[in-house]
Amino acid sequence: MSGTQTELKVGRVASMRGELRLPSDKSLTHRAYMFAAMANSPSVVRRPLRGEDCEATLRCLEQMGLKAEWLSDHEVRLIPAQEWTQPAAPLDCGNSGTTMRLLSGQVASRNLDVTMIGDASLSRRPMKRIAEPLRLMGATVEGDTPPLHIVGSDHLKAIDYISPVASAQIKSCTLLAGLRAQGMTTVTEPSKSRDHTERMLRAMGVTVLEDGLKVCVQGGQTLHGLDFTVPSDISSAAFFMVAAAIIPESNVRLWDVGINPTRTGILSVFDQAHIPYFVENEREEAGEPVGDIEVRAVDVGRPFEISGDLVPRLIDEIPVLAVLATQLDGVSRIRDARELRVKESDRLELVAATLRAMGAEVTTYDDGMDICGPTPLTGTLVDAQGDHRIAMAFSIAGLIADGPTTIRGAESIATSFPTFEKDLWSLCLL
Ligand code: S3P
Repeated sequence: MSGTQTELKVGRVASMRGELRLPSDKSLTHRAYMFAAMANSPSVVRRPLRGEDCEATLRCLEQMGLKAEWLSDHEVRLIPAQEWTQPAAPLDCGNSGTTMRLLSGQVASRNLDVTMIGDASLSRRPMKRIAEPLRLMGATVEGDTPPLHIVGSDHLKAIDYISPVASAQIKSCTLLAGLRAQGMTTVTEPSKSRDHTERMLRAMGVTVLEDGLKVCVQGGQTLHGLDFTVPSDISSAAFFMVAAAIIPESNVRLWDVGINPTRTGILSVFDQAHIPYFVENEREEAGEPVGDIEVRAVDVGRPFEISGDLVPRLIDEIPVLAVLATQLDGVSRIRDARELRVKESDRLELVAATLRAMGAEVTTYDDGMDICGPTPLTGTLVDAQGDHRIAMAFSIAGLIADGPTTIRGAESIATSFPTFEKDLWSLCLL
């Protein structure tokens, strides 16, 4: 993230209307870059997300030998190195947990000695969760928070790992190391997390076995180059979907959105809340379901409950869904979401405190919150604390609030949604 702080000012709008293709999926762009670096032939990635997190992934991979030839702003040809090279300097993962955690699995399974660093927010985030399986496989990993020092090995041994958290980052890190280990590596999760890794590896010719919550890969498999157009990110779409739902007389259509069922928990919330939406033109891109999503304003929205297996299916959407809850008729409940405390910020505390500052009634718990609605919101000064999803969620809250809302720390938005402000104003009617 850049060092300069920027502010975003938002005020009430009359409605939100129009159609748009929002930026591409962050998780899929990270994986396309990383898996292309492991392939036996070049890959082409169209419409990768040009946000800071994914650019950090690409830079790190280039430091280890990947060649990126930009055919246009929206298309890159990725040529893998035969052997990954020892990086001359630490790998800077910026603000990106996905970069650090997934790359760790790739680095740990090679004869490399690598240090990974991150910004202030990433430097506070837990890495023990990926260090543990990698250590069990035989890699040396120092640092339970960044900087992370990894001495990898070409001779890791496969493990059966039971992950204490439903986390695609832990699962992917372990499977990526497992792909180069001896034997069959298995990861079992408490609930199913996003399965982009499994789908993309299959599209590249890898056999990935699944049995309920267990995922297995045999070491020593070959990845073939990928030809992939990245769909739009449902986690970015979520901001505009909620805005359309809560701003009167709105109607917004978002094109080419990734609708992988492990990511569409927001649609289950919309069902509970009786928010009118349609998913049309459904198709597949390299094993990933894609469709167009249209959302209309809700008249009287019902409260929702998020808990259990639903949580990993909408983990990044909870800040903006909490904003939605303030406009629904009754008490919405969020539970089993302790993971939010270790995201780019402590999202439970920051969301609750900011909603209260805007006039909402919120009770927090160790693993969630209750939000009572409907409540009129009042504009305020929001400190996003370097967290892009907080900055965007409260920009949406500002669109329905009385008086101005100023988002401090809006530069963080560039990590995942560099065109947020432009796209937002293109749909808003004043
Ligand atoms: C991601 C997985 C999620 C999510 C993050 C991206 C990924 O984290 O919050 O933004 O790309 O695998 P966890 O898997 O740790 O919950």
